[in-house]
Amino acid sequence: MKPVIILGAGGHAKVLLDALLSSERKVIGLTDFDKKKWGSLVNGVPVLGGDEVVFSYNTDEIELVNGMGSVGSMNKRKNIYEYFKNKAYLFSNVIHPSAIVSSNAVLANGVQLLPGCIVNAGAFIGDNSIVNTRASIDHDVSIGSHVHIAPGVTISGGVTIDDCTHIGTGAIVIQGVHIGSNVIIGAGAVVVKDIPDNCKAYGVPAREV
Ligand SMILES: CC(C)(COP(=O)(O)OP(=O)(O)OC[C@H]1O[C@@H](n2cnc3c(N)ncnc32)[C@H](O)[C@@H]1OP(=O)(O)O)[C@@H](O)C(=O)NCCC(=O)NCCS
Repeated sequence: MKPVIILGAGGHAKVLLDALLSSERKVIGLTDFDKKKWGSLVNGVPVLGGDEVVFSYNTDEIELVNGMGSVGSMNKRKNIYEYFKNKAYLFSNVIHPSAIVSSNAVLANGVQLLPGCIVNAGAFIGDNSIVNTRASIDHDVSIGSHVHIAPGVTISGGVTIDDCTHIGTGAIVIQGVHIGSNVIIGAGAVVVKDIPDNCKAYGVPAREV
């Protein structure tokens, strides 16, 4: 496997670095826009400079990992992914060794499965999406691109979640529901019916606000 560079050196990047190192993946370094971090070490791995460091490597020499986290809008994370993808760089999947992933699940590119998460049979996870710590994705769930399933979320069987949506920490989504694109579901919400595109919903049961 090719060595990787992590784009970003914040909290989400640290968790990804742990996952990569525990899978014995070679990590060349991290990048960050904050010049004060340049030259420092994260878990023994150097912050190399800004994102432009990537261009000192050919597209066939390295793979990238998107270290940008998100607590709401997925736009920044999506833009950075698309910028480097359009320049022909590949994004690695990052799967923490403690993640349980069905051999009958399908992962697209740049997917990140963090400690203790579960991805069950028949599930699909789209490009650049995160299944964060201890979240569970049940059978036949379909998750689009640039989606963030935050820590501790429970997605029941047959749910569909469209692109660029954020499901907040600890939320529960019951079976068969469809959640649109560019949606933010609040932490702790219980989603019991379909949610349209471009909205925010929270509470028990979740209501659009
Ligand atoms: C839903 C959310 C996006 C709302 O953010 P916001 O629009 O900035 O809302 P505010 O913080 O201004 O709160 C507005 C009101 O909604 C309430 N509220 C906010 N989030 C809520 C939630 N998750 N559940 C229930 N009520 C909530 C607030 O208490 C406040 O009520 P009030 O007007 O009676 O005081 C945000 O609170 C949230 O849950 N984000 C997800 C966080 C997350 O997943 N983090 C993952 C990190 S890895």
